[in-house]
Amino acid sequence: MPDDLERARARLAQARRVAALCGAGVSAESGVPTFRGPGGLWENHRPEDLATPQAFGRDPVLVWRWYQWRRELISRCQPNPAHLALAELERRLAEFTLITQNVDGLHSLAGSRAPLEIHGSLWRLRCLGCGDEREDRRLDLPDLPRCGACGGLLRPGVVWFGENLDHDLLERAWQAAEACQVMLVIGTSAVVQPAASLACTAKRAGAFVVEVNLEATPNTGQVDVSLLGRAGDILPLLLAPA
Ligand code: OAD
Repeated sequence: MPDDLERARARLAQARRVAALCGAGVSAESGVPTFRGPGGLWENHRPEDLATPQAFGRDPVLVWRWYQWRRELISRCQPNPAHLALAELERRLAEFTLITQNVDGLHSLAGSRAPLEIHGSLWRLRCLGCGDEREDRRLDLPDLPRCGACGGLLRPGVVWFGENLDHDLLERAWQAAEACQVMLVIGTSAVVQPAASLACTAKRAGAFVVEVNLEATPNTGQVDVSLLGRAGDILPLLLAPA
């Protein structure tokens, strides 16, 4: 591990174009539950009951209650050293792309300027009637929030299972994966596509890929360095001077 850490740190220090792909593990130390693994959200809930367009169509109150609960929980969470290190990396580099599957908004709170939130944001609401989408941080939403403009039902601005990711965001994520010299893959179980394959794209395009995770993932065999441990411990070490 010390050698691997050194190798990763040296490659990162030399790189001019860097991309990071983040998952729920990045926010775990902030107190945001992950999806899989012990205590994960999918341990006690089925995604098909809460995170699909069909679930919302069947029981929007149930789905909204779950999202309201997550909004409240996350409103009390602060960025951790992993978020802060990523914001610092962005300040240091001319070309840095932060691709995140997280919908909690903690990257922006930490100072990251333009995270590609490819799974959307809990803090954005979209109208099913007129399609208007805007930021809304209220914690006291009614059971079924309605659009101020057209009265249509609002839904969380996140990507649900079975839905397409925003084409433009995904395009920018692919471009960053293809252009980067180093890709950091942090705190993701690497089982949800297309995000999971961004690491392989970067690898095929010649990037040095560094995985940071508590445990091995389907990506581990393909990356250049796998650093096992907490993102909040490892990322500050990766940025520290040699
Ligand atoms: P997961 O919950 O699937 O995986 C979290 C990963 O983070 C696991 O591999 C953990 O080992 C790792 N982990 C946990 N704590 C960590 C820590 N402190 N430091 C480093 N690693 C840690 O979360 P994602 O991979 O983000 O999608 O899940 C991908 C998508 O599946 C989510 O965006 C969500 C979910 O269903 C949608 O809602 C569309």
